[in-house]
Amino acid sequence: MLNRRELNRAALCIALGAWALPRPSNGQEAPRWRSDPFGLGVASGMPREGSVVLWTRLAPLGEESAERDARPPCQVRWEVFADEALRQRVAAGEQVTDAARAFSVHVQVNGLAPQRSYWYRFTCGDAASPVGRTRTAPAAGAAVARLRLALASCQHYEYGFYAAHREIAGRDLDAVVFVGDYIYEGHIGPSLAQRRHDGPVPLTLDEYRARHAHYKRDADLQAAHAAHPWILTWDDHEVVNDYASDREPAPTGTEQFLRRRAAAYRAYFEHMPLALAPQGPDMRIHDRFAWGDLADIWTLDCRQYRSHHACADPQMDHGRMLTNCAELADPARTMLGTAQERWLAEGVATSKARWKLLAQSTQVSATSIETAQGRQTWTDGWDGYPVARQRMLQAMADAKLRNAVTLGGDVHRFIAADLRVRPNEADSPVVASEFVGGSVTSRGASRAAMDKMRLDNPDIAHARGDERGYAFLDIDRGAARCEFRATPHPALKDAPLGRQALYVVEDGRAGVMAG
Ligand SMILES: [Fe+2]
Repeated sequence: MLNRRELNRAALCIALGAWALPRPSNGQEAPRWRSDPFGLGVASGMPREGSVVLWTRLAPLGEESAERDARPPCQVRWEVFADEALRQRVAAGEQVTDAARAFSVHVQVNGLAPQRSYWYRFTCGDAASPVGRTRTAPAAGAAVARLRLALASCQHYEYGFYAAHREIAGRDLDAVVFVGDYIYEGHIGPSLAQRRHDGPVPLTLDEYRARHAHYKRDADLQAAHAAHPWILTWDDHEVVNDYASDREPAPTGTEQFLRRRAAAYRAYFEHMPLALAPQGPDMRIHDRFAWGDLADIWTLDCRQYRSHHACADPQMDHGRMLTNCAELADPARTMLGTAQERWLAEGVATSKARWKLLAQSTQVSATSIETAQGRQTWTDGWDGYPVARQRMLQAMADAKLRNAVTLGGDVHRFIAADLRVRPNEADSPVVASEFVGGSVTSRGASRAAMDKMRLDNPDIAHARGDERGYAFLDIDRGAARCEFRATPHPALKDAPLGRQALYVVEDGRAGVMAG
C-alpha cells in the first residue's frame, strides 16, 4: 500500500481535453522576464474528492500578440503545499505551454486528500506567481456538516468595481459558484462608465483573449480567484448578448457566428480553471460536483443548446418583451437541449445528497408582467422556454425530490422565489426554491420595476435590482441560508457590502422564507 507521501508523488499532471501539450524544445533556457508574466494571477477550480484544476497564464503586461506568438514554448513548474507557509510540498510537476494556447496553463492535480485546503504556486524561469489557496471536495458519501458558497455573476467592468470580489476573497468559503457574464463584449455610454474596457468589441480569438486578460488584471477579481476554487458556468456575454445556440442577434449567418463562438469559447477556456478544452465551436461546460452526503451541485449550460428565441425579430434577434407569441407553447422548444435535459433529470432523480443545487445562468421563476396590451413575457430567459421549464420542474416533482434549489444570475437582481410546476398558481405545489445572486457590477432594474414584477408574480418573495453584490450561501443539514450581500449601484472601489436580506429554505420543505 502506498503511503501518503508516495500517493502524493503519484499526483498526475495530465494533458487536458483535446489539447496535446507541446514538448520542451531542446536546449531551452529558463526565461528571464523583463516584466511579471503572472500579472493575470492564478486560479483553481473543479474541486473534487482529491483533485482540483490549477490555472495561470503567462502574459507580461503590454506584450503584443505578435511578440507573444514569436515567443518559444516555455516550461512552467507548479507546486502544491499542505500548508500556507509552503513548507510541506505534496505535489509538483512541470508543464510546457506555448503561443498556440496563449501561454495558458491548466494542471489537473490528482491524489490530494479530500475536504482540505491546499496552497499552490507556479514558477517560470526567474518569475514566481502569487500563491493561491484551494480546497478539495469531501469524499463521496462522507458525512459533511456544512457547505459555504459565494454565488456571483455579471461583472461588467465598465459599470463599477469588484467590491463583491474583495469581500468574497476575505471570506472562509468552500467554493465560489460563478454563473455567467464573466466578461462583457459590449461597451456602455461614457456617462455611465466608472472605468473603461480597452480594445474593440471582440470578434476574433485575440480580441477575446485581450478582453479576458483585461478583466483578469483587476486586483479584487484576482484575489477572489486566489482565495477559493471556482465552479463555473457561462451565460451570453462570454460570447455576445442574447445569443442562442448558433445564432447571434445580428443576422450574420450561422457559419460566421460559429467562428466567433469558437473564438470566444477558446479564449474563455484559456482563462479559466477548467479541464475540458473546446473543440471548435463546441465546449462541454455542464457538470456535476458532489459535496459528500450534503450537496450535489450541477452546473448547467443554458446557451449552447437552446432553441432560438420564440417569435424572433429577423432583423435583430435580441430577447424582447412580447404579449402574444404562440410559439412559446411549442413543446419542441428547449433551454438545455435534449441530452443535457435528460442527464439532469436522471442525475437529480438518483442523487442521494441532502441538497440538490442547480447552478445555471438565469432566473427560473416567472417574471412576466401585466400591461394594458396583456401579459408581457421576456423571451431570452426561462420565461421564453416555459414548456422546458415545466418539464424540468415536473421531473423534480415526479422524482419527489427534496431540497432542490436553483442558483442563478443574468438578470442583475437579487431574487428569492418559490418554484412551482405551473408558476404562480397556488394549487400547483412548490417543488423547489430559487436564489438569484444579483450582479457584481452590471446595472439592474429600479425598485419600482421590481415591485411591479413581484406584484404580478406571487411566487417571487424578494426582488431587488437597484444594488450590486453577490449571495452568500450557508448550507447545513437543517437548512440552506442565503444572504444577499449588497452595495448601492454603482459599486465603488472601497464600497462596503451589507445585508440586503436573508432567506432560508428548511430541510424537507420546498420554498423560501424570510430569515
Ligand atoms: Fe449580465
